Amino acid sequence: MLAVDDVIFVYAGWPDSYRFSMEAAAGEITAVRGASGAGKSTLLDLVAGFLVPTSGSIRVGGADISALPPERRPVSILFQAETLFEHLSAARNVALGLPGERVGSPRIAAALAEVGLPDIGAQRAATLSGGQKQRVALARTLLRDKPVLLLDEPFSALDDETRAATRGLVQSLTLKHKWATVLVTHHADDISAIADRVYLLENGVLRAA
Ligand SMILES: Nc1ncnc2c1ncn2[C@@H]1O[C@H](COP(=O)(O)OP(=O)(O)OP(=O)(O)O)[C@@H](O)[C@H]1O
Ligand SMILES: [Mg+2]
Repeated sequence: MLAVDDVIFVYAGWPDSYRFSMEAAAGEITAVRGASGAGKSTLLDLVAGFLVPTSGSIRVGGADISALPPERRPVSILFQAETLFEHLSAARNVALGLPGERVGSPRIAAALAEVGLPDIGAQRAATLSGGQKQRVALARTLLRDKPVLLLDEPFSALDDETRAATRGLVQSLTLKHKWATVLVTHHADDISAIADRVYLLENGVLRAA
């Protein structure tokens, strides 16, 4: 589904270069493991289109997306924490996934129900727990319904129990919606719990682990 083929990237003014090649299949969780500063977020930013590579290609379903701006890429991204607008309701935050979507639409209610939060639509995001916030953010990606889901350390801010529950939700949503999910993490337990395939990022190079 997602194929990153010999993508080379250099931060302007920095000597180090990155070289990324990987594949992520639909309905699977592909983990990228690496130490802090290894370049994991850099890889996701390249796939999402926030950074532009020097060379190489990024394909989704066979189509080269390298030249597309971020908003036109078939990709959703979920960060570690604080991806919601705190002063807006949960439902409004979900609605932001699709331009023009109404807060009261059945799709919003269905997305919140699917992540196990059927009753919190009217609640302000600021009043939700960390785990609930990540579920609302997942509901927003449901609404977007893009084939590739990029997860940048999405469980780091959660306690162990919430972390396991949120991991399980990501796994079941990935299977059900046939997403190619890429999970970057430096936690070995996330990988053993839900990864179908693992890459290791070290010294600027990504390789199958
Ligand atoms: N805009 C930038 N300009 C220059 N260097 C950068 C920039 N962003 C990140 N870097 C550097 O690139 C390297 C990789 O950063 P990146 O954020 O991709 O690491 P990471 O693996 O996601 O780390 P972490 O696990 O701490 O989130 C780091 O050495 C970082 O300092
Ligand atoms: Mg990072």
